[in-house]
Amino acid sequence: MEKYNGLVMMAVVMFCSQCWIDVEARPVIERRNLLANGVGMTPPMGWNTWNHFYCDINETVIRESADALVSSGLAKLGYRYVNIDDCWAEHDRDSTGYLVPKRSTFPSGIKALADYVHGKGLKLGIYSDAGHRTCSQTMPGSLGHEQKDAETFASWGIDYLKYDNCNNGDLKPMKRYPEMTRALMSTGRPIFVSLCEWGDMHPALWADTLGNSWRTTFDINDSWDSMISRADQNEVYAEHARPGGWNDPDMLEVGNGGMSNDEYIVHFSLWAASKAPLLIGCDVRSLTNETLAIIGNEEAIAVNQDPLGVQAKKVRMDGDHEVWAGPLSGYRTVVVLLNRSPEFRTITAQWDDIGLPPNTVVEVRDLWKHATLEKRFVNELRADVHHHACKMFLLTPLTLSGKDEPKV
Ligand code: GLA
Repeated sequence: MEKYNGLVMMAVVMFCSQCWIDVEARPVIERRNLLANGVGMTPPMGWNTWNHFYCDINETVIRESADALVSSGLAKLGYRYVNIDDCWAEHDRDSTGYLVPKRSTFPSGIKALADYVHGKGLKLGIYSDAGHRTCSQTMPGSLGHEQKDAETFASWGIDYLKYDNCNNGDLKPMKRYPEMTRALMSTGRPIFVSLCEWGDMHPALWADTLGNSWRTTFDINDSWDSMISRADQNEVYAEHARPGGWNDPDMLEVGNGGMSNDEYIVHFSLWAASKAPLLIGCDVRSLTNETLAIIGNEEAIAVNQDPLGVQAKKVRMDGDHEVWAGPLSGYRTVVVLLNRSPEFRTITAQWDDIGLPPNTVVEVRDLWKHATLEKRFVNELRADVHHHACKMFLLTPLTLSGKDEPKV
């Protein structure tokens, strides 16, 4: 308990100092309800097994993927969590009630894997479920075993827990999730808590003290309709995202082959601007240049990791095209012009919509062309956008209202 209190105090102090430094525009009081475990101050970045491998996983895939994150340069860009999803354990607990890594696929055990991953400067994530069995039904869930499992995860050196919601015996998540969060906190190890409740009971409204992220949607699949609907459902809760607690529209499908390159760029742009977890869901051992150019876009990643931590919102909708925008540190703004239609569209972002004072002159950088536009813009920004595509711009004010110099 003493250790727990100490950890909380430390995290609160760390958190509060972050508030004063980073949070310019929003009152500190709004940010007091959060899981004070000191992690997740920016959205988590990493890789997860599920979207590509489903249950077909083993320790070799995990090691090789960790190697690939480093050799591709993605780890340096911030992709540090190597997350094992469902299906890593034996069907049943051992005679003393502990989870057992599946002998046929994880013969060296999870601790060895954590040591390997840590040795590369990365972090290891694992998966469990706030129910009697996980969603795949192939392994036990943690309901009723929270303390034991949390201690097991901490002793293995786990850094991230995805906590799912299947087979829950009809108990509400508000009853089941706190047990695991408390148990993890009591271990004294800072473990990112990723709640996977699929948005069923609107966790954005109550999970801020229980998790560092909470799913706002059912599972994504590798198609435009699925991806764009997850972005829409997640946007509704934008006001609830902040450093330490993020809305999660599910993991990335970029690189899995079901969408066009432009559609994957939309996917990554919306996830980045929405401050969503950036968890790669493809096979990172065989990345194409196109995929690497998307998930490795440093400028889009910088938007996602911006210390202000404010989720972008739709600020103007016009049938099949729209403008998303959000404030960034240094009085900058990210703007995404999104074309959902099957045809080309010209889309305009008005200063009034994106929250810039009238007559502000801005410099505009195209985050996918990696180029600063020569022209300066005042009062609106207009661009042509292909079908099922977007433009992502970073706006830096050169003057505020034509009078004051911006404090950048
Ligand atoms: C649920 C989750 C998925 C994945 C699977 C594993 O469907 O939402 O992200 O973890 O379970 O079975």
